Formats: sequence, C-alpha cells, structure tokens
Amino acid sequence: MDKIIIEGGQTRLDGEVVIEGAKNAVLPLLAATILPKSGKTILRNVPILSDVFTMNNVVRGLGISVEFNEDDKEITVDATSDILDVAPYEYVSKMRASIVVLGPILARNGHAKVSMPGGCTIGSRPIDLHLKGLEAMGAKITQLGGDITAEAEKLHGAHIYMDFPSVGATQNLMMAATLAEGVTTIENAAREPEIVDLAILLNEMGAQVRGAGTETLVITGVDSLHGAEHDVVQDRIEAGTFMVAAAMTSGNVLIKDAVWEHNRPLISKLMEMGVSVTEEENGIRVQAELDNLRPVTVKTLPHPGFPTDMQAQFTALMAIVKGESTMIETVFENRFQHLEEMRRMGLHSEILRDTALIHGGHDLQGAPVMSTDLRASAALILTGLVANGTTIVGKLTHLDRGYYQFHEKLAKLGANIRRVSEA
Ligand code: UD1
Repeated sequence: MDKIIIEGGQTRLDGEVVIEGAKNAVLPLLAATILPKSGKTILRNVPILSDVFTMNNVVRGLGISVEFNEDDKEITVDATSDILDVAPYEYVSKMRASIVVLGPILARNGHAKVSMPGGCTIGSRPIDLHLKGLEAMGAKITQLGGDITAEAEKLHGAHIYMDFPSVGATQNLMMAATLAEGVTTIENAAREPEIVDLAILLNEMGAQVRGAGTETLVITGVDSLHGAEHDVVQDRIEAGTFMVAAAMTSGNVLIKDAVWEHNRPLISKLMEMGVSVTEEENGIRVQAELDNLRPVTVKTLPHPGFPTDMQAQFTALMAIVKGESTMIETVFENRFQHLEEMRRMGLHSEILRDTALIHGGHDLQGAPVMSTDLRASAALILTGLVANGTTIVGKLTHLDRGYYQFHEKLAKLGANIRRVSEA
C-alpha cells in the first residue's frame, strides 16, 4: 500500500501548476459515447485517473471499443457495432458515477440493466431522481437482486421537475432525452460546468440540448447521434485545491488555465478571507499571507454555490486561520470525516449535525492519518504541508481516483513530499 510522506511546517508554495481535464466531466462524457451509432468519438484533455480507467471498462463491458492513448491524454470510442445492454457489476460496483450509463444504454437499446450503486461513506446517495425522471419518459423500472432494469421501446419527451438539482440525475436524463421522441424539459436542473460540457458534446454529436448552465434544460429528441471530437473542460476542483494550498502556505502560485467563472464561489470566499486572487492571461494567481487572513462562514450548495467537493480542503485552510470559522455542509449528510483525522493533528473543532465549527490557528502537528474519501485525502495532504513535523497519509486509492500526480505537482511548487510503496 502506498503512502504519502510530508515534512511540513516551513513550506511556501511558489511557481506554476498545470491542471488536468475534469474527472467529473469526463465520466459522463464517456457515458455519452455509448449513444452514437455512427462515427468514432474522440475525447481530448482526458485526466489519467483510476476512475477514468473504471469508466472505460464499464463502456468496454458493453462491447464498445475504447482506446486510451495516455501519452496524448486522448480516448477514442467506437460504438458503431451493436452494444450489449448490461453494465457489468464488476466495474459498476467500483464507482457510483457509473450509474450515468443507465440513460444512454436505455435510450439506444430500449432496455438496460445496471447494478444498483452501493453505499458511500459521505452519504446515502439515493438515485430516486434518476429513476423518476426515466419513468416520466416512459421507462418501466424494476429493481431486483441488486440490479435496476429499465425498459422502453422508445422513450418519449416529458416535463420533469427535480426536487433537488442532482448532477448525476441531470446528466442521465439529459442523455436519455437526446434520443426520445419529442421534447423533454428538465426544471431545477443542475448547473455545474460539467453539465455544460456534456451538453456541448451531445450537441456536437447532433443532439438538440438548450439551456445548459441554467435551471431549465430543453432537449428535443433526434433520431440518431454521430461521433464527435471534444476537449474536456478543466478540472475546477483540482484548480481549487491548488488555490487553497497556495493560501494555506502563504504561497504565490499561478494555476494555469484555471477558469475564473467556474471557481467563482471559491474565489469569493478566498477573497473574503483576505487571500489575493487575480486573473492573469494564462490562469489564476493566488497569493496570501496567513497572518493576515480572517475566519469566514461557508455553506456548500449546488453550483453556483460553494462546491461540496471543495469543503474538506477549505476546512483545512479554516483550521490554520486564527479565529472561529463555520462550515455548513448541505449537499451530503456525512462529509466531515476528515475533521476526525485532522483532530489527530491538533485541530480544534466541533460538529453539530450539518455544521462544523473550526477553532482555527492552533499549532498543528504531523501524524499518521488515513484518507476517508477522495477530497478528504487532498485535505489531509494540504494539512500535512502546514503541520510541524512528519505527516503520513495512507489509503491513497481515494486520491488516485481524482488527482493526477498530486504529490509531484506539490513537490514542483516546493513542498517536501514523497510517495512510497510498502508491501
Ligand atoms: C456529483 C459529483 C460529486 C459531487 C456531487 C455534488 C460526479 C462524478 N460526481 O455527484 O463529485 O460531490 O455531484 O456536487 O460528477 N440525490 C438524491 N436523489 C438522487 C440523486 C441525488 O437524493 O436521485 C442527493 C444525493 O444523496 C446528495 C445530493 O442529491 O445528497 C447531491 O447528489 P448529486 O448532485 O446527484 O451528486 P452526484 O451526481 O452523485
């Protein structure tokens, strides 16, 4: 099992860092490659991450050819032959996000069987909104033996209102609607940049999706889709993680090609704290002096609110800013587990239901800690940069799902960090 070892306390990150394509964009984009019956689809700027390998295998399991050229960060998908309609448990069980293949398989084949996603440490994560939406479009859904089966010879357009703007449900329904008969309207749709990226690819494939990035999506069904070429949008969460890292270490870092608009909610909170964030021609520069920063209150919300995927990293910053900060997590019900690990490093905090009070500014000490989920692993590594002494972060499988060369990128910015393999 690999471990990351950090000698912390003195680090000031300095320099430039390059950001990958977004994991949360490429997973649904890969699901969309199931749809076209003619032409190949080429995705560029693909991040080399274990979740991407898993999704490639989910798509391959349908009998589709998927070639990942890692040197060029490019995936070529050929789905022109007939496809199977069962997503294999072996891969679906590894990653919850693979549920987004349900809509595309159903829309293309009229029948789909996908394993029910399992439990998740950050919350219960039901998929009722995915299923209700497909039912509204005429699908008959049955759940048996851990599998979800969806059937509809031809989906039809529907007017769907989502109780909550779920990212995955919006993606699933949007893809299903591209080949449905008639017009589908999704109200209270998710507005994340990754939704917009998916709509761009679908339209490049010949779909008619309007309104992506707003709360109402209107999708006019077409008879068929064709392959397309597409550059994956930059990873705003990876960019945000480096912004927070720069602020925590009183650093000066240019996050290359990061998109200001996509990180607006995070940037606004960093500025409120006293961090300098400026837009430059080729990216976003973050500079800070820790002693001058002020505590803040943050509430996670669907986009364009503060992203839950930046919550853990931001609490690491709150932990070292003098005074009392508050983090309210409204998207997932159990996403403060990293605070328990950070307590082992000297964090003073209290959790009351969805609210964490962080008493920031106490000295932190390096310690052995375990990642509890993907973003928690990044938060623990950032805490290791500022804690005195040695921090050892274990269970890196979480980190590898979503960060490419994380420790190498931090080392290049001046961190004393290395990764070791242990038998
Ligand atoms: C996506 C992201 C994830 C991010 C999350 C919220 C991907 C691959 N993952 O996950 O990194 O943390 O958005 O920004 O893009 N819910 C329901 N019923 C449903 C669906 C969701 O109640 O049918 C609830 C969930 O339990 C959760 C909330 O809605 O509390 C948000 O979930 P959702 O937006 O669907 O997140 P994901 O698409 O799973």
